[in-house]
Amino acid sequence: MTTPSVSLIGPAAQERTATPRHYLMCPPTHFDVRYAINPWMDPGRPVDRGRALAQWEHLRAVYTGLGHRVSLLDPSPGLPDMVFTANGAVVVGGTAFGARFRNPERTAEEAAHLAWLRGRGLDVHASGTVHEGEGDFAVTSSLILAGTGFRTDQAAHMEAQELFGLPVVGLRLVDPRFYHLDTALAVLDDGRASGRADIAYFPGAFSGAAQQVLARLFPDAVRVAEADALVFGLNAVGDGRNVVLPVQAAGFAALLRDRGYHPIGVDTSELARAGGGPKCCTQEIRTA
Ligand code: ARG
Repeated sequence: MTTPSVSLIGPAAQERTATPRHYLMCPPTHFDVRYAINPWMDPGRPVDRGRALAQWEHLRAVYTGLGHRVSLLDPSPGLPDMVFTANGAVVVGGTAFGARFRNPERTAEEAAHLAWLRGRGLDVHASGTVHEGEGDFAVTSSLILAGTGFRTDQAAHMEAQELFGLPVVGLRLVDPRFYHLDTALAVLDDGRASGRADIAYFPGAFSGAAQQVLARLFPDAVRVAEADALVFGLNAVGDGRNVVLPVQAAGFAALLRDRGYHPIGVDTSELARAGGGPKCCTQEIRTA
């Protein structure tokens, strides 16, 4: 589907508004690649943990610099993927849907997330089905987009819909390099202030039917090129105005600028060795 450029100028001409966010992050104190549960991970190549920590600290500083609140989860030794907090839960309107990981290597992260969420007084629900939190659930103010195919079970989509009372739209992922929804689709503006959710995605990561669903629901979405998706460009965090994304995704950043967003490039290349980027390191705590 081709979108005439004139319709892109409409939303871009508006003033984009950021809204304050609360993010949960976990320092990569014990970050490592010791197993391979996605095609990006190569346990034969040692990681530079100091570099990962510096990249993560910078990401955190970017968020606080934008006025967002960042809470921290205590890192546990023996959980090398714990830096990817997005996978621990989905939190909407003060209700938390705790993850149940696909791979046993990450199962112990579940309890740490549940304890943190309970400690905040949130209404916490442990999951009866396999799902990996915001890795496969992209929340907007009117609906939730949900990935399946590699990690999250389709049954979890219905569980989320029952829990949050928001329509959950299932999308099938078909390319193992994009094993989580948040590696192939980003929410730029969830619509909470603008009233109009805006997303970006790499069509090739989705089944043909899922591509049609996305085109129908978001005819003006930013379609991102494979080269930008392969540097985790879509593993981006938007607050309605600012979009924090890997600095390597230059083509996507240019598209964002054209639309009136403020792209902020960060280097998360060391964390990418485990198959993640900025969004994977960031779980949003939505209490309103
Ligand atoms: N190594 C982790 C895994 O495969 C990376 C998780 C990335 N997180 C994300 N939200 N995409 O589970």
